[in-house]
Amino acid sequence: MRARLQDKRVVICAGSGGVGKTTTSAALAMGLAAEGKRVAVVTIDPARRLANALGLEDLGNEPHLVDPARLAGHGIEVRGELWAMMLDPKRTFDELIARLAPDERAREEVLANRIYQQISGAVAGSQEFSAVAKLYELDRSGRFDVLVLDTPPSRNALDFLDAPERLTGFFEGRALRVFLVPTGLAARVMGRGTSVFSAVLKRLTGVDLLEDLGVFFRALGGLIEGFKERAAGVTALLRDEGTTFVVVTSPERDPIEEAIFFAGKLRDAGMPFGGLVVNRAHPLDGGPSEADLSALTAALGDDASLAAKVARTYAEERTLAERDQAAIEHLCAQTGERDPIVIPQLDGDVHDIDGLVAIHAHLFAG
Ligand SMILES: Nc1ncnc2c1ncn2[C@@H]1O[C@H](COP(=O)(O)OP(=O)(O)OP(=O)(O)O)[C@@H](O)[C@H]1O
Ligand SMILES: [Mg+2]
Repeated sequence: MRARLQDKRVVICAGSGGVGKTTTSAALAMGLAAEGKRVAVVTIDPARRLANALGLEDLGNEPHLVDPARLAGHGIEVRGELWAMMLDPKRTFDELIARLAPDERAREEVLANRIYQQISGAVAGSQEFSAVAKLYELDRSGRFDVLVLDTPPSRNALDFLDAPERLTGFFEGRALRVFLVPTGLAARVMGRGTSVFSAVLKRLTGVDLLEDLGVFFRALGGLIEGFKERAAGVTALLRDEGTTFVVVTSPERDPIEEAIFFAGKLRDAGMPFGGLVVNRAHPLDGGPSEADLSALTAALGDDASLAAKVARTYAEERTLAERDQAAIEHLCAQTGERDPIVIPQLDGDVHDIDGLVAIHAHLFAG
């Protein structure tokens, strides 16, 4: 990793759900900070215990300095700085909208708007978009040498790549434009029937739907240009040569196929590909293909049934290791990658600094 990440300012860990993106991001950031870089890692929904281990109890939506003493106790000397944050997508989105609003009034109007509040939490890809928007903001702040971005547990890692375009698409799309044109659908929707409905709704619930809709589309209209510019900036950052994607996968079939697809997509799009991490593998460590039952029995105090169980477990592990090996070879053949970083399945979850240190040792070995 050291060589692959040299001169990189932005490292994005992408991959299928549950393969170890958050773990890898944190361990990568730790390694880069140990080597003297000022690093910020933006994590997304880290496991509670991992967040605690990094001192991330506070949801400030800004990076916090991880106390070097926390790491020193585990044999990691941080020569640079390690900053970590948990992304709050809704808040990031709100902050972005607030920044893009032409004035104080427009800002208050949008943020307080009920329609906006519903939509901002739900716009497809907004979590993905928020993640890169935050990245962009941190990159522009100049406070860090390297940013490591964890990515959301999307069904499909590609959601993440497409997020800026998709969201701009929404803003540029017909649906929105119809509403923004005064003579368009909005005007018709706000015709008589709707007014009656709205009046009843207002009396029953206190919600002034038409007013909310009107304010929403008017205020949003003023933000679209800024938003498109920002999305273009974000897209450019994703393609910058200082940016690289590390594709994380487990040796299971579906994540492997997704990693292959994602690596291909990166290549097609001319995006930088920083390498593959195969996490939670069962290493084929050069042992015999079958356990020697008589030797085992002797070693286990002539307990033949225990020896048989051990032999069976060994055979199962061996099968898993062979399956993983075949998956990794398939992955390499399909992506053209010669040297993926393989991290073994560790005993127990990785939810503390010791776990990260173990992952780090594999990432930065050699
Ligand atoms: N090498 C490993 N050995 C054992 N457990 C691991 C290893 N790597 C990760 N884990 C555990 O697997 C789980 C998933 O890891 P992690 O949260 O990093 O994945 P993720 O890709 O970020 O998931 P999501 O897509 O849900 O965000 C966690 O409980 C983590 O502690
Ligand atoms: Mg995660």
